[in-house]
Amino acid sequence: MTRHFLRDDDLSPEEQRRVLDLAATLKAAPYDAKPLAGPRTVAMIFDKPTLRTQASFAAGIAELGGHPMLVDGKLAGIGVRESVADVARVLGRQASVVVWRTYAQSRIDEMATYAGVPVVNALTDDFHPCQLLADLLTVREHKGALGGLVVAFLGDGACNMGNSWLLAGATAGMHVRVSAPVGFEPDSSMVDEAARIAEGTGGSAVLEPDPEAAVAGADVVVTDTWVSMGKEEEAQARVELFGPWQVTAELMAKADPGAVFLHCLPAYRGKEVDASVIDGPQSVVWDEAENRRHAQKAVLAFLLEDGP
Ligand code: NVA
Repeated sequence: MTRHFLRDDDLSPEEQRRVLDLAATLKAAPYDAKPLAGPRTVAMIFDKPTLRTQASFAAGIAELGGHPMLVDGKLAGIGVRESVADVARVLGRQASVVVWRTYAQSRIDEMATYAGVPVVNALTDDFHPCQLLADLLTVREHKGALGGLVVAFLGDGACNMGNSWLLAGATAGMHVRVSAPVGFEPDSSMVDEAARIAEGTGGSAVLEPDPEAAVAGADVVVTDTWVSMGKEEEAQARVELFGPWQVTAELMAKADPGAVFLHCLPAYRGKEVDASVIDGPQSVVWDEAENRRHAQKAVLAFLLEDGP
């Protein structure tokens, strides 16, 4: 059966561990494993802006011996000039994997239904699962094991990063606290799903409206832009509302003294995070950005393990 990576809970706890272990191995010897030798082609499509994702996939695919093929989604007119299903059928005949950044989750689900090859979510409105593998790898490098760690996600809890932290953190056995302004909490179905996963991993998933209480004693503090791609017209209203969720040095001081700070980037200093935090000693954001490559290489290798 063709495996896809469309959302964080597509990997079981055991599979997530395996992918993270593989990522660490690949990081230690980046040029040794060549599962894409041939070279096999990986199609990449970006319907939203990208820096880290395109760069890390292209570099990682090359390191695995494969060929990254950038498909211009606008030129192709996906869902406009031809249906997602037909694009999927065509790309599946040219590439061994399709990596797609797009809007609605239903689009990538449809791609996966018809491609006949593994499809990887490179960010949708709902999830950013590749980022989460990089984040977990980074936390593991700095804190040792993941199970039992407390993570506080602050800001827009209803965005892809809030959802992905709930699911991936729970899968890793972490205690995930999401703190967001009223109206920007993750959908209750996400919290329920994370809590269900956490029952099997020893973790937990809760909403904590008070940012200070969310950060208290946390091992990991995470934030994301308050204005995700596609939400630009809400920027002003959000900035006015989100102030108390800014990760300042004072807020960071409420976390465990050994806490690390994560941000998937791009970051807006003076908005969701103060410069003293993201540019300070507890910030691990550059390791996090590098780890995109290692984590995604591991996902590609994992998906192709038993594939065509
Ligand atoms: N939530 C952000 C993540 C950026 C990598 C967005 O969707 O724009």
